Amino acid sequence: MTNTKVALASRPQGFIEDSNFKIVEEEIPALKDGELLIHIQAISLDPAIRGWMNEGTTYIKGIEIGAVIRTFSAGKVLSSKHKDFKEGDYVEGLLGAQHYAVSNGNGLKTLDLENSQISHHLGVLGMPGMTAYFGLLRRGEPKAGEIIYISGAAGVVGSTVGQIAKIKGCTVIGSAGSDEKCKFLLEECGFDYAINYKTEDIDQKLKEYAPEGIHIFYDNVGGPTLDMALLNLAQGARVVLCGFISQYNSKEIYGPKNYMKIVSARGVMNGIIVFDYVAEWPQAVKEISQWIKEGKIKVKEHVEHGLENFVPTLKMLYTGKNFGKLVLIP
Ligand SMILES: NC(=O)c1ccc[n+]([C@@H]2O[C@H](COP(=O)([O-])OP(=O)(O)OC[C@H]3O[C@@H](n4cnc5c(N)ncnc54)[C@H](OP(=O)(O)O)[C@@H]3O)[C@@H](O)[C@H]2O)c1
Repeated sequence: MTNTKVALASRPQGFIEDSNFKIVEEEIPALKDGELLIHIQAISLDPAIRGWMNEGTTYIKGIEIGAVIRTFSAGKVLSSKHKDFKEGDYVEGLLGAQHYAVSNGNGLKTLDLENSQISHHLGVLGMPGMTAYFGLLRRGEPKAGEIIYISGAAGVVGSTVGQIAKIKGCTVIGSAGSDEKCKFLLEECGFDYAINYKTEDIDQKLKEYAPEGIHIFYDNVGGPTLDMALLNLAQGARVVLCGFISQYNSKEIYGPKNYMKIVSARGVMNGIIVFDYVAEWPQAVKEISQWIKEGKIKVKEHVEHGLENFVPTLKMLYTGKNFGKLVLIP
């Protein structure tokens, strides 16, 4: 059997280019004891992929040149010589951007698809949903009556953070890059306020919606957005640094200028890495599934098709063309 994969051809300098990727065809090797073969049915496009294309980061090694692009993917087990997985099981893990994956089972999760569809396990019930859950609850520590501002709010992480914050009794403000995305936040996700950061002034709007300041800032964007939020902190504010998508493709990183506002607010700035909570993911999946069932969390997905479209699909994340959890059906 032959596999087709998207491999890393070169490391990007700045914005990702088509030449950083190549499509490779190769023979699938025979399974060894302890291995299984998976037919991939859905590939998750996550902003972190851009960072993984670099040499390396503090929390994970970079993708090696020539290796398959690292992605969370989900699919069906075609054959197995692994004691924990059998033919017909559905699984999810870091299986890469390809049609077939051979795995030794490390980090692989068996999926329960009775009450959920496969793509949900790459989004709201997968790594991004876990990021929202643990980033907000463990690092943001929301309390009823508090005000939270979320940047990059219309994505899977941001919209899930906002909806969990509503469940916890917070007033929720989100910013996103179009009127359509803002409408989704207000009408579908139950946000109290939405800011179109492309046509409105974030600082001015935060002063209008939270005159006493924001108690939590959940940042997915970084750069000048972080600076504007820092100007609007309430006493004891928590800033959760989740992502900085405005900077992922930059050659020169914009550092915050207003960080001293943390001091006058007696606040804290926290980083979140979702992988630190892996042992607790099953409990969070259960709780989020229940909220979805009760209609308290809405799920929005953006589905594209064809492995050959991997690169243009990935680019959507960094230009804002995606609207919802971005998934590629290979
Ligand atoms: N720390 C962790 O463990 C962890 C884990 C998972 C994800 N994350 C982070 O969480 C964030 C959200 O991830 P997601 O999967 O939910 O992605 P997403 O929000 O679905 O997609 C990315 C969105 O970012 C916005 N964006 C792109 N370039 C921007 C720019 N220059 N300025 C402002 N906004 C920009 C776009 O929306 P607009 O149209 O609104 O601009 C785009 O749709 C990312 O920063 C990601 O790296 C962190």
